[in-house]
Amino acid sequence: MPADNPSVIIQGLGIYAPERNVTNDDLSQVMDTTDEWIRTRTGIGARRLAAENEHTSDLGTKAAQAALADAGASIDEIDLIIVATMSQDMLFPSTACVIQGKLGARQVTAFDITAACSGFLYALETATRLLQSGSYGKALVIGAEKMSNILDWEDRATCVLFGDGAGACVLSKSDTPDTGILECILRADGSRPELLHMPAGGTAKPASKDTIDAREHFLRMNGKEIFKVAVRDMGKVALDVLEKAGVSPEEVACFIPHQANVRIIESMAQRMQVPMDKFLINIDRYGNTSAASIPIALYEARQSGRIKPGDHVLLAAFGAGLTWGASLIKWT
Ligand SMILES: CC(C)(COP(=O)(O)OP(=O)(O)OC[C@H]1O[C@@H](n2cnc3c(N)ncnc32)[C@H](O)[C@@H]1OP(=O)(O)O)[C@@H](O)C(=O)NCCC(=O)NCCS
Repeated sequence: MPADNPSVIIQGLGIYAPERNVTNDDLSQVMDTTDEWIRTRTGIGARRLAAENEHTSDLGTKAAQAALADAGASIDEIDLIIVATMSQDMLFPSTACVIQGKLGARQVTAFDITAACSGFLYALETATRLLQSGSYGKALVIGAEKMSNILDWEDRATCVLFGDGAGACVLSKSDTPDTGILECILRADGSRPELLHMPAGGTAKPASKDTIDAREHFLRMNGKEIFKVAVRDMGKVALDVLEKAGVSPEEVACFIPHQANVRIIESMAQRMQVPMDKFLINIDRYGNTSAASIPIALYEARQSGRIKPGDHVLLAAFGAGLTWGASLIKWT
């Protein structure tokens, strides 16, 4: 990062996990699956599911309020709100606008980023650069998902994998050079969108009786193919961002990968030749919460003392698009 750019740091973190905890055994009561199948293939043991009247914006608002309290910042100090989500309250307006209203924020810049499970990293980088432009003081970056409303609960191959939740951070500038968000690489390859998508509901296939009958308003995924590209691309981009920053994997205190499948994380660790105990894993309790997965994991890493001021922390993600990326942070 050029020396004349101010450092951008994470001043506060917050999460919100819906109250309802649904275990694999609970799911096996209502569909043809087992704890053993889910756990051995994915590492997932349970997930939180939001209540019917809790929308993505509600989860994001609660995480944002927790992050503001953690930062000791007031909502009036925020002049940029970016929300990463693939389960927006509505196609429009943006969930960021809805959250801006619910937070009672000033009439600031607010928009969504759609990069699925990589969304939080896309949002973090966008906010970092906007803060460095000098036009903004503090930003709220939120990853929020109510995946349970876009899952096909008749498709056991996908519905058991995801969960609901939200994580948020307050970003601010620091006079200390070379600290906070150090480097980031974001990538996309849209040549095979059908690997992970929702076929209908957009302008390509507007909602109709046929699309509803065909259950095309739910997430569809080619799990095996996604698995392969995730292992390859997430590991490579993590190494690339480290090389760009001139930091070795040994110098990283904690790796925080997107929590999609513990076997993907194990393969990534193997490729990077990094021991698994350096990777934060919480997929057993949350499942895949898409854009919320990294901020929730980052929060838990900090709370459990796994990351301390001065530590290098590496975030890495992949998701629909396909999109993938990695960010290197020097914790403050
Ligand atoms: C989805 C995933 C767990 C499937 O694992 P897998 O090892 O490829 O699956 P397998 O080939 O061993 O098993 C498929 C079989 O299990 C069955 N199955 C699928 N879901 C099941 C479930 N919940 N419970 C029991 N059986 C299930 C299938 O019907 C299939 O049965 P068949 O062989 O008789 O047709 C794995 O591919 C994956 O995690 N991919 C990445 C997905 C991902 O991370 N997506 C998010 C991206 S951000």
